Amino acid sequence: MTADMPPSEVRPARDPVRKNIALLAVPPNLRDYDATCAGFSWEAAGSLLDGLPGGQGLNMAHEAVDRHLHEGRAHKVALRWVGKDGDRRELSFRDLSEETNRFANALASLGVQPGERVFVMMGRQPELYVAVLGALKARCVVTPLFSQFGPEPIATRAEVADARVLVTTPELYQRKIQGLRARLPGLQHVILAGAQGAAIPATYRWDDVVAAASPAYTIGPTDPESMALLHFTSGTTGRPKGAVHVHAAVLAHRVTGIHALDLHDDDVFWCTADPGWITGTSYGILAPLCSGVTSVVVEAEFDAQAWYSVLEREKVTVWYTAPTAIRMMMKLGVQAVQPYDLSALRFAASVGEPLNPEAVVWGLDAFGLPFHDNWWQTETGGIMISNFAAMDIKPGSMGKPLPGITAAIVRRRDDGHIETIDEPMVDGELALRTPWPSMMRGYLHEQERYAKCFADGWYLTGDLARRDVDGYYWFVGRADDVIKSAGHLIGPFEVESALMEHAAVAEVGVIGKPDPIVGEVVKAFVALKPGYEASEALRRELLGHARKQLGAAVAPKEIEFRINLPRTRSGKIMRRLLKARELGLPEGDLSTLESDEVKTSPVSPGATS
Ligand code: WT7
Repeated sequence: MTADMPPSEVRPARDPVRKNIALLAVPPNLRDYDATCAGFSWEAAGSLLDGLPGGQGLNMAHEAVDRHLHEGRAHKVALRWVGKDGDRRELSFRDLSEETNRFANALASLGVQPGERVFVMMGRQPELYVAVLGALKARCVVTPLFSQFGPEPIATRAEVADARVLVTTPELYQRKIQGLRARLPGLQHVILAGAQGAAIPATYRWDDVVAAASPAYTIGPTDPESMALLHFTSGTTGRPKGAVHVHAAVLAHRVTGIHALDLHDDDVFWCTADPGWITGTSYGILAPLCSGVTSVVVEAEFDAQAWYSVLEREKVTVWYTAPTAIRMMMKLGVQAVQPYDLSALRFAASVGEPLNPEAVVWGLDAFGLPFHDNWWQTETGGIMISNFAAMDIKPGSMGKPLPGITAAIVRRRDDGHIETIDEPMVDGELALRTPWPSMMRGYLHEQERYAKCFADGWYLTGDLARRDVDGYYWFVGRADDVIKSAGHLIGPFEVESALMEHAAVAEVGVIGKPDPIVGEVVKAFVALKPGYEASEALRRELLGHARKQLGAAVAPKEIEFRINLPRTRSGKIMRRLLKARELGLPEGDLSTLESDEVKTSPVSPGATS
């Protein structure tokens, strides 16, 4: 072993974490993987859903909320909200049904029509959950937006989706949205949760339109194939893509809740993801509610001690979290966990970015449970590959495809056809056999980009992976340039565009730079226009500009000045080369590189931030 070998080769192979079903706290839902896969059909699984009364179709919010009223859960706690200041609020399924009915009535009273887009942008407050589910009842299309987005990502997404309604808070509205109203003429209604005192012009107060509305509402006929959710995701180039999900996706939420998260009726479930990203919607709202379990919602941002307190006090049994958070907890050590009584916890899962083998095993030391990694994407709508409760875990592997999901490692041939790679341990693109209920039905207004994701009956994920002899899948990397930072997918183009708007910037290339905690940090390489000089003050100014436009979660953490940037002859900035040089890796094929570039070197004051 030498220091310059990539970590995956230095890391010793870990022994599998063996499971003994008899020793698990509750018998897992999925006991015999092969038999369940063999006997599974989505059609038969459809009987897990209720459907709208009178055969009026299928509506996510009915499955998540109203069905439980006639299944004996009216008084059961649906959401247990833990506020920033430690205040708690419980909403029973009946409360949630009435609140969401009020919201649906409020939309109707504003003249909002089914199919129109309702954006919801706020922290994890009860109103967020009410607005998402209420808008689904009204058969509107819901787009949750991450509350830490700056004005630019908000405006782009609202433009692409033609947002009609926005639900947010007075603080977020005044800080980020008010100034965008002129740019968003289609945005007719802004509803402010928690608004007090004098009304802000051109907005409604939640209490006036929602709290005052009737708690009785009948969901209209809902075509299972009608659009329910629009989740934005980023590509390498161009505007963010709105992945279209339909009401029928709720079957996948229900089934994956059973198989991948092992939800049982009496579970207390905690998904730590923010609903501004799809994990927080599919698994922070829909899957647990559909399963009729109690869901804990924590408003505050990550803090290890606070999280252990939540696990202890709320007696969380099933916990769904993410590698960045796990690595932050690991840093504090096992001893930080020891004071807490976490005996209620029986299953822990992780998603969103590669989970280090050490982290899987650290779970055993800290919580007496391994972390169960699973894999999916905004486009897949729900978990596709997973380490199941009953299955031996190979640390570092994402697990096996869910019952009902066929995965493969494939190669795209030059003629556009797909070849599956059947030998084990060969790298290729991860592909999924179409269709499944939560598969995206389109990228809004981008038929061509959508069509490119499919060939020969396969959905091509853009991830590189391999499969071992036992059928376990291993993540290798992304096939494109998108960046994963703290579990959030960031499009380099969106970051580059924001920096390009600054008067000093001539060209920009943005990459993800590996980071031991958050996976990757966003780093920008900038060449300046004539007349501007690289300086520490300008570097700070550009960082500030990007933060203001994009928000802290998306903006670069590092900026390095260059005289010019490597470009292909056709003029595209070669992010891959910037990245290879940053990491000291082989530069690969440089045949398309414009000849006068190769000698670019950092310009003072250098890269340090
Ligand atoms: C991308 C999807 C996670 C769903 C919600 C976010 C990466 C996801 C894993 C994993 C390694 C993972 C992939 C994927 N990813 N899960 N277990 N191991 N990488 O969805 O923001 O669309 O991101 O996240 O690259 O394509 P998303």
